Amino acid sequence: MQIKQANFVISSPNAKGCPKPDYPEYAFIGRSNVGKSSLINMLCQRKSLAKTSSTPGKTQLINHFLINDTWYLVDLPGYGYAKVSKGLRAGFSKIITDYVTNRSNLMCLFVLVDSRHPAQKKDIEFMQMLGEKGIPFSIIFTKIDKLSKSALEKNITNYDQTLLESWEELPPRFYSSATKQSGRDEILNYIDDINEKW
Ligand code: GTP
Ligand code: MG
Repeated sequence: MQIKQANFVISSPNAKGCPKPDYPEYAFIGRSNVGKSSLINMLCQRKSLAKTSSTPGKTQLINHFLINDTWYLVDLPGYGYAKVSKGLRAGFSKIITDYVTNRSNLMCLFVLVDSRHPAQKKDIEFMQMLGEKGIPFSIIFTKIDKLSKSALEKNITNYDQTLLESWEELPPRFYSSATKQSGRDEILNYIDDINEKW
């Protein structure tokens, strides 16, 4: 799929403030600093459509981008960022649970995990919550440019094994690098296929 147009629509503090669910929607979620905003920019081939930062906690609202006038990409705040106050942390999880449980047009939630690290409790728990609520999700392993091919393969094998402890079947998985532009076609083709069913 070609991305001809990518326009910022609105930043919302809750699901109520989001645009009408008139188009299929795909959101990016995961721990702070995992690379959600960078991946959105890479997919859209735009340097700073979504705001990125090396300091965790950059994205704090639900950000909608309309793609080719027919579907939405959504940049979400990170979860599991320890340095913010407890009150703010509670706010993050509330905004996220509110969003994921109240978006009728959410076709797939992409859960981003850093390919360099072993499975984190927070991510596994989050995916379990999605399973319980019946929210469809896929996993994207990010920042694959930061490790060797063999280290990546080893980490992914271990990750799959951890997932199989709580899931009978593995979700779709993608591997991305925002700096090297890897994974773009695979993710966009996957979205394209789902859009056809809308
Ligand atoms: P929050 O909005 O704070 O939750 O973070 P985020 O998940 O949106 O992360 P963001 O895209 O802002 O990226 C965080 C940092 O990681 C930035 O310094 C990016 O340049 C860097 N980064 C993101 N993706 C990649 C990648 O694929 N490769 C490398 N090497 N760095 C990356
Ligand atoms: Mg961000």
